Order: sequence, then C-alpha cells, then structure tokens
Amino acid sequence: MKFTYYGHSCFLVETVGKKLLFDPFISGNELAHDIDIKSIKADYILISHGHADHILDAVALAKQTGATCISNYEIIEWLGAQGADKGHPMNFGGKWNFDFGTVKYVNAAHSSSFPDGTYAGNPGGFIVTTNEGSFYYAGDTALFSDMKLFGKHHELDFVVLPIGDNFTMGIDDAVIATKMLKCNQVVGVHFDTFGFIKIDHAEAKAKFESKGYNLHLPKIGQTIELG
Ligand code: NI
Ligand code: MN
Repeated sequence: MKFTYYGHSCFLVETVGKKLLFDPFISGNELAHDIDIKSIKADYILISHGHADHILDAVALAKQTGATCISNYEIIEWLGAQGADKGHPMNFGGKWNFDFGTVKYVNAAHSSSFPDGTYAGNPGGFIVTTNEGSFYYAGDTALFSDMKLFGKHHELDFVVLPIGDNFTMGIDDAVIATKMLKCNQVVGVHFDTFGFIKIDHAEAKAKFESKGYNLHLPKIGQTIELG
C-alpha cells in the first residue's frame, strides 16, 4: 500500500488500484503550501470527524475528484447540503463492503462539531481492509482501551495515530496504543501544525524504537510504501 502525506492528518492511501484520501485539510495548513490541491485525485474521501482541521477542503475535493465520501451520518448530510452529494453514511461498529475492501467505522475519544459550531455527530476512526492488507486510522483521539479489541480482531499492517498531544494523545500514549493494536508500523499524524502540538521528532522516533516499533514521519508531499 502506498501512503502519501499531505500534512496534519491528511493522507492518501493507494491500495488495490483505488485512492483513499483521509481528513482533507491542506489549504488552511501553512506547512502544506507546496501541495497543489488541484492535482489531488481520490476515489473515496474518509472523514473522521467534523473539526475544521479534518474537513476544511472536503467539499472542494469531493467536487473536484468526484469521490464518494465516507463518514458518520451527520457529516455526510452536511457535505450533501453543500453539493458534495456522493456520500456513504456510517456509524460506530458498522462495516461496509466497498469496491476496494471493507471499512469499519469505530469510536474515538474526542469531540466533533462543524466549523460553525453545529453538531457533527460523534468522532471516529476507520479500520480498512483490502486484499493488500489492513490498517487503522484513529482520527483524533485519546488513548482508550477498545484499541485492544481492534488489535485482537484485526491483523493490522500499519496504524495511523495522532501523536501531537494537547488535543489528542501524545507520544507516550501512542506507544501504548501501538502495543494494544499489536502492530509495529506506525505513521504519526496531527503534530507540528499549530503551536500546541509541536513535537521533537528524534525523541518521538526513539520512544517508539525502544519498544520495537517503527515510527514513520513522512515529509509533507512524501510517499512511502507500507504493509
Ligand atoms: Ni479534532
Ligand atoms: Mn484535529
């Protein structure tokens, strides 16, 4: 599986010939100014929750790419009202077979509202399984013990975890999450974008490495191979 990082918690996974874009927030990210949004292609856009730093470019990118959006019911309704009307609504614990594989929408411990303050459903994460492998994107979340269940019942090839602290779990809790998820390949997201979430990259990598885990911190615009 090919993983391309677009900054903050926005990334593209290419698997079985399909492009899955997650949490599009690029135009509002000063660190991602080199990314040409117009060049992004996607078959699906998966949105974890309604906060602006995960949804800012969703309507524009859904229209530009013609992608089907996957998220909770409230977010799919909200996107549809703005003309991004190819949507697939889900809720926690639910799984659906798409043409690339299955998506299970799972809980996260966070909050979720739209940029105008209205209710955006509950915040979630995704477990995606295709013929090429399986991965978990936690969205914005604290550490929570249900991650043990995710690890027990899915063979995860890599996990994408927030590590910036303050608004989500930080590095130490992400290391614990990695153990619960029984996976040793981790991509860190949700760091450095704002003042509250700046991290020391070398320290973060060392903490994961000391437990036998590999923390990937791709540069914005970089593509890596995972799984
Ligand atoms: Ni958030
Ligand atoms: Mn966030």
